[in-house]
Amino acid sequence: MKMLVTGASGFLGRFLVPHLKKEGHEVVEVSSKNCDLTQADSLTQFNAHRFDQIYHLAAWTQAGDFCLRHPGEQWLINQKLNTHMLDWWQKRQPQAKMIAMGTSCSYDPQLPLEEKNYMVGEPIDSLFTYAMTKRMLYAGLMALHKQYGLEFLYVIPSTLYGGGYHTDGRQLHFIFDLIRKILRGKLYGDAVVLWGDGMQKRELVHVQDFIQNLQLLAEREKNTLINIGEGKEHSIREYAQLICEEVGYPFEKVQFDVSKYVGARSKVLSIQKLQHILGHYSTVPLKQGIREVIAWFQEHSEVL
Ligand SMILES: NC(=O)c1ccc[n+]([C@@H]2O[C@H](COP(=O)([O-])OP(=O)(O)OC[C@H]3O[C@@H](n4cnc5c(N)ncnc54)[C@H](OP(=O)(O)O)[C@@H]3O)[C@@H](O)[C@H]2O)c1
Repeated sequence: MKMLVTGASGFLGRFLVPHLKKEGHEVVEVSSKNCDLTQADSLTQFNAHRFDQIYHLAAWTQAGDFCLRHPGEQWLINQKLNTHMLDWWQKRQPQAKMIAMGTSCSYDPQLPLEEKNYMVGEPIDSLFTYAMTKRMLYAGLMALHKQYGLEFLYVIPSTLYGGGYHTDGRQLHFIFDLIRKILRGKLYGDAVVLWGDGMQKRELVHVQDFIQNLQLLAEREKNTLINIGEGKEHSIREYAQLICEEVGYPFEKVQFDVSKYVGARSKVLSIQKLQHILGHYSTVPLKQGIREVIAWFQEHSEVL
């Protein structure tokens, strides 16, 4: 198949693109360097192509407290990225199936994180704008499906991890941040100070598991939204303990700063719908995934 992937240079894109190519697909890769999606005419360069699938991964965000500090830019930039993509899709590539990414932070934390609640209630205040631009993306997909019959799939990933990350000094997703801090404690004797009391719980999905599920869903499902998670979560303390064991750093030395921002106390996606569609699937064990991330940091000491 012929595919267009936006966000190809991002964390997920760097795993997805080689995977799709390995499967024999022809992939056109889009990043802000070759196609700035904030510009209305940026996609016209691809008008002559006829894509079967468009993976729309591009988003302007970072982890940590980034969303808290950039709400205005987040609204302006993400609304442009998504609107320009949907406009071009409808006008130039209506035959293509659009596979777009949501976010678990769009859910109201007071409600079960089940697909039927994705557009209900209010996202957490600190991530509100980013979360709402993702809800608007889903609203746009539904609207274009209703009026023009375009086909889409909207997936909601839990936090992704795997052996590779950005090297540009951006704010890290929690698991990369934890590993980096503990490795620095071990290698350089830095104090290991984690945000919050460590009791906040988070779910992780290995990027290879995510991609495998994403592809199956892209083949089988349309015009719906589906959570992709592991269905289980661990506390930050549990993750820290596992990393300490792998790295050889005493967990007792890890400090917790309760004055720091931690976001939601608990975040685990319901995966009933996913399991109903795909049945049981095997996943990369957490310990193995953590080892891959540690190995990646050890190979990229400049990021430490
Ligand atoms: N990673 C996760 O744990 C996670 C969890 C839930 C949802 N998601 C969603 O999954 C998608 C991929 O996530 P990710 O972690 O791979 O994100 P990422 O690493 O931050 O990558 C973002 C991508 O968007 C591109 N982009 C940003 N601004 C752009 C612009 N103006 N024009 C064109 N491209 C632009 C970036 O290109 P440059 O490299 O050129 O800047 C990059 O390729 C996102 O939609 C994200 O919201 C991710």
